Amino acid sequence: MKIAIGNDHTAIALKNTIKDHLATQGHEVIDLGTNDTASCDYPIYGEKVARAVAGGSAALGGANTDGASGERANLGIAICGTGVGISLAANKVRGIRACVCSEPYTAKLSRMHNNSNVLCLGARVVGDELAKMIVDEWLGATFEGGRHARRVDMIMEIERRES
Ligand code: RB5
Repeated sequence: MKIAIGNDHTAIALKNTIKDHLATQGHEVIDLGTNDTASCDYPIYGEKVARAVAGGSAALGGANTDGASGERANLGIAICGTGVGISLAANKVRGIRACVCSEPYTAKLSRMHNNSNVLCLGARVVGDELAKMIVDEWLGATFEGGRHARRVDMIMEIERRES
């Protein structure tokens, strides 16, 4: 699977840990930065990850139909200090369902019930090992569809009405 990953200055070490972890599982990781420890603005990287996923999932066989140029990925992982700011930014891109998860259960259910396509983590909240467990549960889960598809469609309909 192609996974886009992006982060602000607080999360370079955790990003690298997750990149290594994903590589050992055979995933292709697209690193959208930052790799600079200077203070930066998390919306830049939340948007980069979101656009890679929104533009990529259709081309790669996913459900989104929004077009975008540049890097393309099936799913995204976005990391800032808490995961909150970068998730808010990612969720502004059409077709994105970004969820901040600080434990594996929510991460798993965010895929199974909410069809999340961007996982957000807080580098100041979770340690390396917990973060890897969260990522593994998220990637290992599958959207259940059915009544959950109806509810996700309702969320996306709100987005359509807003644009
Ligand atoms: C940066 O200090 C911090 O505000 C950012 O990483 C993130 O936690 C925002 O939500």
